[in-house]
Amino acid sequence: MTTPIPTSEVAGLTAPPGLPDVATLARLAGEFFNALPGTSVPGTTALAAFAPPVAASEPQGTIPGGAVLSVPEAYAAALPSMSTPSIPASAGQTPGPSSPYYFLGESSAYSLPPDADPTLPNGSHDFITAQAHGLPGSGQLTALLDQLARDRAPEPKAPAAPGDSHFYFIDPATSSDHRSGGGLAGTGRDPHPAFDMNAVRRDFPILSERVNGRPLIWFDNAATTQKPRAVIDRLSYFYEHENSNIHRAAHELAARATDAYEAARSKVARFLGASSPEEIIFVRGATEAINLVAQSWGRKNIGAGDEIIVSHLEHHANIVPWQQIATEKGAKLRVIPVDSTGQVLLGEYARLLNERTKMVAVTQVSNALGTVVPVQEIVAMAHRAGACALVDGAQSVSHMRVNVQALDADFFVFSGHKIFGPTGIGVVYGKRAVLADTPPWQGGGNMIADVTFERTLFQPPPSRFEAGTGNIADAVGLGAALDYVERIGIENIARYEHDLLAYATHGLQTVPGLHLIGCARDRASVLSFVLDGHEPTAVGKALNQEGIAVRSGHHCAQPILRRFGQEATVRASLAFYNTCAEIDTMVRVLQRLAAG
Ligand code: ALA
Repeated sequence: MTTPIPTSEVAGLTAPPGLPDVATLARLAGEFFNALPGTSVPGTTALAAFAPPVAASEPQGTIPGGAVLSVPEAYAAALPSMSTPSIPASAGQTPGPSSPYYFLGESSAYSLPPDADPTLPNGSHDFITAQAHGLPGSGQLTALLDQLARDRAPEPKAPAAPGDSHFYFIDPATSSDHRSGGGLAGTGRDPHPAFDMNAVRRDFPILSERVNGRPLIWFDNAATTQKPRAVIDRLSYFYEHENSNIHRAAHELAARATDAYEAARSKVARFLGASSPEEIIFVRGATEAINLVAQSWGRKNIGAGDEIIVSHLEHHANIVPWQQIATEKGAKLRVIPVDSTGQVLLGEYARLLNERTKMVAVTQVSNALGTVVPVQEIVAMAHRAGACALVDGAQSVSHMRVNVQALDADFFVFSGHKIFGPTGIGVVYGKRAVLADTPPWQGGGNMIADVTFERTLFQPPPSRFEAGTGNIADAVGLGAALDYVERIGIENIARYEHDLLAYATHGLQTVPGLHLIGCARDRASVLSFVLDGHEPTAVGKALNQEGIAVRSGHHCAQPILRRFGQEATVRASLAFYNTCAEIDTMVRVLQRLAAG
C-alpha cells in the first residue's frame, strides 16, 4: 500500500485555490490510498470535483483522414500508401465504478461477463472455490459462499469487507455478480462499465517507475505486458501458502497447489470458450506450444510430399517448427502472401489448398504489423480442404474476445506473459478429439499411467502432454491475470485500444518523414514505422532517453519485414493502460528527432 506523504515533504508547496491546504491534502491522500475496499475516507469526496478528467473517455471524436484501403490487391504491389485507415468514432462509454478498489486483491467493482454459465461447478470457473485450508477466515468464507449460492438476487453486492476472507483472490462479490449474470444484466446497458484509467494504472506498480528521470511509458506490450498487483500478489500467495508439487502427494499443500493449478486450467478453458479444461495444456509459451503441436501431431500426421501452409505474417515461432518437421518428413512449406497493406490474400490462400495440405498454421494478429487476420475464414477453408488448423493467438488474446469453439481451430496457442501473466507459462488449446488422437511429445513423470521396462501407458490429455513438473505457480498467476482481464472486460479493452490505436496512427502521421509499415484496415495494438534519416535503433534509443520503451529490430518476423523492404522497424505496441497523453509525448519526441 502507499505510504502517506509526511507533511514535512510537502512543506513549502501551496495548494491550488479552492482546495484544502497541502498538509491536509497529503493526509487525505494517505488515508485514501490506505483505505480498504468498501470503506470510505471522510473528506475525500469533496476532492472529487478537482479530479482530472478520466482518460477512459479519450480519445473522442473521429479520426481525420479516412481512405478505406481496398483488399485484396496484387501481391506484387508497391509499398503501402500511408493513408489513414477509416476508423469509426469512439463508442459512448459509461462511467467507471464509484469504488475502483479492485487493485487491492481481486475484489472488484467490475462485474463478470453476463454470458458466463452459472451452472458450472466451482472448479470450472473458479471465481469461488471454498477449500478447507484451515486458515483464519475459512469458516466465515465457506458460510458466506454457501449463503451466496442460495441468494441469487440480481443486485450487485458490495465488495467483501476486509477480514471476511484471507483468500483475497476469492471474491464473493464478484462471484455473486457472476451467478446473477452480471451487475447490470437486464438493464440493457453494457454489462462492463468503462474502466477508470487512473484506477487501472494504479493496478500496475511498474507504471510508476521513472526511466532516465521521466515517467515510464511502456509501449513494448507486444514483446511483453506489465503485471497487475493481482498477479504479483497471487504469485506471492502461492509461494507463501500453497507451494508444493502437484498430482503426487496426499498432504495438504499438494492438495492446495493441485487445486490452484487445475483451477487455473479451468479459467483458461473458460476464457477461451473451450468445451472442457481437458482441452487445455500448459506449456512454457506460444513457441513451445507450436513446437509441441509440430512434434506430436505433426510427426504423426505429416509425411513425404505433404504440405503445410503458413502466412507471410508469421512470427519465427510459427515458421521454424514447421520448417523443421517439413525438412525431417520431406514435406513442403507454402506461404499465403499479403497485399500492400499487410493483409493476407484469401484468394491466393484458396489456390494453395489441396489434398496434400495437412496443416494450416496462421497468426490471429501480426506481431510486426498488427494486422488482424481473418482466421475464422482461414480455418473454415482449411477444414473444407481436409486440413487441420492452428491459430497463433500470442498477439490477439489480450486485445479481443477469442472463442475457440466459434473459431473451430483444432489448436489455439498463446503466451501468458503477453496477457498480463507471468513469463514461462503458455497454453495449447486442442480439440478434445484431436488431442485424444495425438501422441505425447516429451516423456517423463506426470504424463504416464504405468511404466515397465517393456512399455509405458500414457495418461489421457492434458496430462499426457505435461511431462515433468510444470510451471505451477505461473499457471496460477496466469489464472489471476485472466480473472483481471475479465474484470476489466475484454470488450472494454478492445474498444479502448481501438480508439487509442486510431489516435496514435493519426499522431504518427504528423511526424515528417515517418512511414508506417502495414496499414491493414483491421489492426490491433501495433504501430510499426521507420523514420527517414534515422536507424530504428537510434529512434529506440532517443525514445528511451525520454522514458519511452519501444522495440526496434526485426521483431522475430523477418519475412514480413522484408516483404515491405525493411530489415528493421520501430514498433510501438499498446495496451489498455496506455493513454493518449503518452502517445502525445512519443509524437513530440519523434517530431523533435525528425526536425534534427
Ligand atoms: N514475440 C515477441 C515480440 O513480438 C517477443 O516482440
